[in-house]
Amino acid sequence: MLDDLARPGFWQACEEQVLQARRLFAQLVGADVDQIAVLPNASIAAHQVASSRRWRRRRDILATPAEFPGIAHTWLAQPGSRVRWVNPSGAAVSTGDYLAQITSRTGLVSVPAVTYRDAVRLDVARIADAAHNVGAAVCVDAYQAAGVMPLDVDSLACDYLVTGTGKYMLGLPGLAFLYVRHPGGPPPALTGWLGRTDPHALRATVLDFPPHARRYETGTPAAAAVYAATAGLSLIGGLDLRQVRHHTQRMIAVAAQRLAAQGEVVRLAGHVEAQGAHLAVVEPHAEAMAAWLGHRGVITAPRGGVLRLAMHAYTLDDDIDAVCEAIAAYRCRSRTQPGGLR
Ligand SMILES: Cc1ncc(COP(=O)(O)O)c(C=O)c1O
Repeated sequence: MLDDLARPGFWQACEEQVLQARRLFAQLVGADVDQIAVLPNASIAAHQVASSRRWRRRRDILATPAEFPGIAHTWLAQPGSRVRWVNPSGAAVSTGDYLAQITSRTGLVSVPAVTYRDAVRLDVARIADAAHNVGAAVCVDAYQAAGVMPLDVDSLACDYLVTGTGKYMLGLPGLAFLYVRHPGGPPPALTGWLGRTDPHALRATVLDFPPHARRYETGTPAAAAVYAATAGLSLIGGLDLRQVRHHTQRMIAVAAQRLAAQGEVVRLAGHVEAQGAHLAVVEPHAEAMAAWLGHRGVITAPRGGVLRLAMHAYTLDDDIDAVCEAIAAYRCRSRTQPGGLR
């Protein structure tokens, strides 16, 4: 990007990168490029979904407290709709919880492919089947899945999929993708010059919406995040994601066993298929633990009472050794007990 900035024609080069990112992401999820919109973040992508739907006949949006708050807040902010919570207790949500709550009033079902805190992987295809049987649409948040496991929009049978590049797609924060199975219908709430049929016509007095997914786009994207997205997606495109999935599942099993043997409390899904690509270690002061580990070169992600250990294609057995040893050292130094026991 810095090289392109130093040359004439940076904007064209950047537009090429956007096209390339759109193409690579479409390939990653088995979609057509015309079904993909490039947006600044997943919350805006969800907003574009909800605002282009009508709630008169089916007002209910089915969502779970286990989903990423930004997505849930987007649903809560929609005028004319009503959020119904799947498993409101906040305990680990399951596919069965969703199936039990889909009714003839359901208009949209929001499903995280993998929950951001506890890494519960839901059976999106089964939920989508039940939703479609009552005429509801399905929106998948694949932020914790895209780039680290196979994802195919036809196998998932979803109507929308949102995700961003800042995690397993190996890019930067600042860019998200929205997949729409059938672009068209009512226009979204947000728009901008890139949402026009011909953005380069630059006609301030004409508000037209193309029939493809670019209709959901707004204004100039974050260039650095776009360049990083094409780099990350190119790396991911060279991987066999079935093998990556197999590898991360093995890494999680090894880490979970080691940590349990050290007395740590880990949240593991009931069976290996229902586990995402990270492991949640229960720790009420996860931020303090993450900061201590971070100073020793072990990068983790604390969230809501858990320390998340994320696996990818490049995670090695040595990495698991390092994090397990570092957690054991932290327990000694901080005189804390696993699972929040004092
Ligand atoms: C499941 C999930 N969805 C969405 C996001 C990010 O949403 P946004 O791009 O709106 O910040 C995250 C980030 O951690 C996430 O884990």
